[in-house]
Amino acid sequence: MKYFIGIDIGTTGAKALLMNVNGVVITTSTNEYPMHNPHPLWSEQNPEDWWNATCKSIREVLLNGKVSPVDVNGIGLTGQMHGLVTLDAGGNIVYPCIMWNDQRTAAECEEITSIVGHKKLLAVTGNLVLPGFTAPKIIWLRKNKPDVYEKIKKIILPKDYIRYKLTNEFFSDVSDASGTSLLNIRERKWSHEILNKLQIPFEWLPEVVESVSQTGSITQQAETLTGLIEGTSVFAGGGDQAAGAVGSGAVKEGIVSIVLGTSGVVFTHSDNFRIEPEGKLHAFCHSVTGKWHLMGVTLSAAGSLRWYRDTFCYEEKFEAEKLNKDVYEILTNKAASVPAGSEGLFFLPYLTGERTPHPDPNARGAFIGLNIRHTKAHLTRSVLEGVAYSLRDCYELISNLGIKADNIVISGGGAKSQLWRSIISDLFNAEISTLTCTEGASYGAAILAAVGSGNFKDVIEACDKILKKESSIQPNVQRIKIYEDYYLIYKELYPQLKNSFKEISFRIDE
Ligand code: XUL
Repeated sequence: MKYFIGIDIGTTGAKALLMNVNGVVITTSTNEYPMHNPHPLWSEQNPEDWWNATCKSIREVLLNGKVSPVDVNGIGLTGQMHGLVTLDAGGNIVYPCIMWNDQRTAAECEEITSIVGHKKLLAVTGNLVLPGFTAPKIIWLRKNKPDVYEKIKKIILPKDYIRYKLTNEFFSDVSDASGTSLLNIRERKWSHEILNKLQIPFEWLPEVVESVSQTGSITQQAETLTGLIEGTSVFAGGGDQAAGAVGSGAVKEGIVSIVLGTSGVVFTHSDNFRIEPEGKLHAFCHSVTGKWHLMGVTLSAAGSLRWYRDTFCYEEKFEAEKLNKDVYEILTNKAASVPAGSEGLFFLPYLTGERTPHPDPNARGAFIGLNIRHTKAHLTRSVLEGVAYSLRDCYELISNLGIKADNIVISGGGAKSQLWRSIISDLFNAEISTLTCTEGASYGAAILAAVGSGNFKDVIEACDKILKKESSIQPNVQRIKIYEDYYLIYKELYPQLKNSFKEISFRIDE
């Protein structure tokens, strides 16, 4: 039997997933590492921590003895996007990775937009430039750390640093490179025009290839550290969202994937290059060769429910421990007793600012419409509904581009809640399905390796053969009407509060 390993350099840990050629997951292992916040708004990690955790996770999936490393036919890589890893001439790290959730570069984003021009930026890179993206971080280093900047000879993304350690090669893939603000998304290659305007040397960048391309093989040194066999092929893989979409089967038009994790993502495949006219959706190259994807991001999705649980739900936590149950199950069971719409209570999920459809770091969370009859169950339900309204905002932008969803697949920790899935189904007026395998990006990376090594014709064939539906929920006719009505009210809330949010955040920042 042939086997494949997917490696995911996540925000909290490095995961290795071992899969056989039929897509059956044999085992997984994750080793964690810290994130450092040396200043407010800064988020950094040490790439060496990723490498140590990766080596350990690979050894652990191989060591359980079920599979010989000789039978591992390929490795696929995925990971957190947008992070800036800087290397000197000897391949040494010159500055910690500035991560995807780092917000220090608001001024550099404005600078890039004025140098390149808003229209040009959108037309070439498919996106507005956001503080989390890679290019503004390069400019930030040039301005603020000239001694570091002087040493830079290579710039790579997190998963591509692991590729370098595994193979000694510098490559990236088109989906991950899409989040740098330096890629020409239509042409799927680095934009010389933007690089020249920003005075970033082209030689610093790795070669960029499609996600199923081979990008070197395991070196002797990597064999010693990981237990993999020297010469095993390493494939390009993709950014965590594109690879996760492969794991969810969002690899052809008509399939939309919703990820209900800490953040929430509404993701759609696109056969053609299209952008949302105001850049409100991210438009990136997909891991499906020659195709694209669009996505909207709700920054605090299941993260909102976790915040709510940790801040208000001590009683339920106690009850859960006593009954040996999951606290989320207790909370959502109570929320299910409240009618759709939470009797007029709304929650705005902008606890950490927002990306889609309001790219606004100053946006704030809120409960709106409280009355004397409302109970904790109403508050809980309104949190679930508020996140669902925000995901619907993302979905509206996708629908407005003429992309139809025949099939919506949901995954991520929040998708375990049947109530949450059913609220989303009613609000989207669509059937929502789950798949049997919910391993996400690492699973997608392993599938990309299986395709790259010639076991499937392409990603579509692999997904058709490997992925299996687990359950589906149909919308309820009465609740569709209720939610349609409430959604119209929800849409009006942010525009009315925008200025107040700004005033509030200025005072808190002072
Ligand atoms: C994508 C994004 C996140 C990070 C971390 O645009 O910011 O998915 O890649 O998971």
